Amino acid sequence: MNRVYIKTYGCQMNERDSEAVASQLVARGYRIVDREDEADVVLLNTCSVRDQAEQKAIGKMGYLARRKRENPSLVIGFMGCMAQNRGAELLERLPDVDLIVGTQRFHHVPDYLDQLTAPRDAGIPVPSSIVDIDEEAGSQNTIREHLTDRKRVSAFVSIMQGCNMACTFCIVPKTRGRERARPIEEIVREVEGLAAGGTREVTLLGQIVTSYGRGEIPERDGKSPFVQLLERVNGIEGIERIRFTSPHPRGFNADLVRAFRELPKLCECVHLPLQSGSDRMLRLMNRPYSRSKYLEIVNDLRRSVPHMYFSTDIIVGFPGETDDDFRQTIELFDEVGYDMAYIFKYSKRSGTPAATMEDQVPSEVKEARNRELLECLSRHSQRRNQALLGTTQEILVEGPARKGNGYTGRTRGNRVAFFEADERLVGQLVPVRVERATVSSLYGSMELVGMEETAGIGMRGITN
Ligand code: 5AD
Repeated sequence: MNRVYIKTYGCQMNERDSEAVASQLVARGYRIVDREDEADVVLLNTCSVRDQAEQKAIGKMGYLARRKRENPSLVIGFMGCMAQNRGAELLERLPDVDLIVGTQRFHHVPDYLDQLTAPRDAGIPVPSSIVDIDEEAGSQNTIREHLTDRKRVSAFVSIMQGCNMACTFCIVPKTRGRERARPIEEIVREVEGLAAGGTREVTLLGQIVTSYGRGEIPERDGKSPFVQLLERVNGIEGIERIRFTSPHPRGFNADLVRAFRELPKLCECVHLPLQSGSDRMLRLMNRPYSRSKYLEIVNDLRRSVPHMYFSTDIIVGFPGETDDDFRQTIELFDEVGYDMAYIFKYSKRSGTPAATMEDQVPSEVKEARNRELLECLSRHSQRRNQALLGTTQEILVEGPARKGNGYTGRTRGNRVAFFEADERLVGQLVPVRVERATVSSLYGSMELVGMEETAGIGMRGITN
């Protein structure tokens, strides 16, 4: 009764939470398996950002509940954002679910599984279902363990939880709670441990990382707590690359812009959620910046690091969005020339202000705008990737590619690359000459001689 399968929906934070739960379960004697049909316990770590994500997990749970009827000892549970958002209400629709654990209680999962999987004749009463979506002070400090079963060249590190903003479309402040930061020292210790185990790249995670420690950790030399944290992580031996997600545009002050130039390990790759290119929409979304302020940040960053890579989040079909508003998003896309973007069709989240706004946009219109923006994005990604043809890129080798017999890794700009290598190079920075480029990937071969500076693509941070 100790084989657990965890399926994760949604963002990197959810992946990180699942990994932390998995490692806590392993410490308790459970085994993590990669096949659902081999598991005694199936946990779905859920996402609530859009209705579709919730429906997917509910559909999956319906299937698991049918399996449980044939095999009553199967334990099934929801964790994470949807569990937090809907709580016990989920049991009305899915009464067979054993466990519902919210975003501040992940670390109690081992205890709950012990109770739910106890042998029925052990004299311990087996509860019918457990629902725990309580708030817990300090819970942000419980997402710190990593699985150590394999070398993790690139690892996620959770630095904070929650978000205090009030974007009118967003359910996250409800599912993740108020902002709570982990202490700098604890994060540094975690990253040092990862580096000692072979990790070379860390992505610092939070719902709004640029607000990290605001109000708790004082500014120092005009540097925000987040920039102070970046500096500390930059100083950790063995770590070669630092990334972070997700920031808020309003956190891009001079200190953070400067950090991209001054901290050699901080990759020149920024995820800068725009949401809309129309000031009218931004106001309705309660996003505290204008399109011109956003462009100013992009330009500041490009002045600081000319070959900066940009990605973004966009919502199409927010209530009241007209063709003209949408046009402004397209224009801004063309102006920035994003390398990557996540484009979302607006989804009503009950309890958020936008859900009850007038002028909801018909789904065909959202669909058409989604398609148009995706085409626009793919033109830019293609062009940006093509520009790398013939250049030599620093690649962090992550491991064998899933298909074929080559290896895969990423550039500092977070472009995926495929090339021939061997196992000894996993975890190393290698120079790869780009020979072919598609919208999403680069293909090339490793250079045997030293790396050149080509086409303004810097080769900073190379130590081996
Ligand atoms: N509908 C569609 N997309 C949304 N996002 C957040 N809430 C919604 C919603 N109600 C998107 C935003 C955010 C990303 C994580 O998800 O673009 O940045």
